[in-house]
Amino acid sequence: MRKKIVAGNWKMNKDLAETQALISDLKKSLPATNAEVKIAPTFTNLYPAYEALKDSDVEVVAQNMHQEENGAFTGEISASMLKSIGITTVILGHSERRAYFGEDDALLAKKVDAAIKNDMDVIFCFGEELDDRKADKHFSLVESQLTNALFHLGEDAWKHIVLAYEPVWAIGTGETASPEQAQEMHEFIRKTIAKKYNQTLADGVSILYGGSVKPANAEEIFSKPDVDGGLIGGASLKAEDFVGIVKAI
Ligand code: 13P
Repeated sequence: MRKKIVAGNWKMNKDLAETQALISDLKKSLPATNAEVKIAPTFTNLYPAYEALKDSDVEVVAQNMHQEENGAFTGEISASMLKSIGITTVILGHSERRAYFGEDDALLAKKVDAAIKNDMDVIFCFGEELDDRKADKHFSLVESQLTNALFHLGEDAWKHIVLAYEPVWAIGTGETASPEQAQEMHEFIRKTIAKKYNQTLADGVSILYGGSVKPANAEEIFSKPDVDGGLIGGASLKAEDFVGIVKAI
């Protein structure tokens, strides 16, 4: 059975006091669940978040990292630095990193390698833009993102990989992929992995959906057979909404 996961990507939101307040609310209100629950605060708040949650079932994860171990890379943070404060999972390839910080598949392949070399887990994000979908290129685009950034990995490395399909047109727009659109793409992703590797490996990979997931639509999206949870942006910033989404899994 593959893992069910609900992860909150807080992006560049919440200062230290706000982070502590939201964590305190989450600790009070998150239900017991068989799913893995994760939150990704911004870098400056990772360690306090880790300290506040280390005895709980909620994992604190990073939103990004650099591909090198250390050196003259001003402003960057390495895998070993994250691990030194207890963080063992990182989100890579988010569409905002791709769009605003020029991260492409080749760079992301290096970041994925660096994470795995450091025995870290990766939540790898990818997905098409609206123009790709309108031009009916969304399947080929997603296949190329997976091929270029992940298909050099050996079978063993896949135990570190969780996928997050996030159609760019659904991120922060209020427009969600329909449960059918999500299922169709997730099924395609799993088939593509099975074709490259094998069915057993493909069946073991958790594939999350991200893009305007809310308490009101989460249950229907999560009910689809190839949707194993969600990567949540806006709705993870309010305890009540995030808890509602966790309850839906
Ligand atoms: P929203 O849930 O705000 O659409 O963001 C999704 C996302 O980008 C999660 O990484």
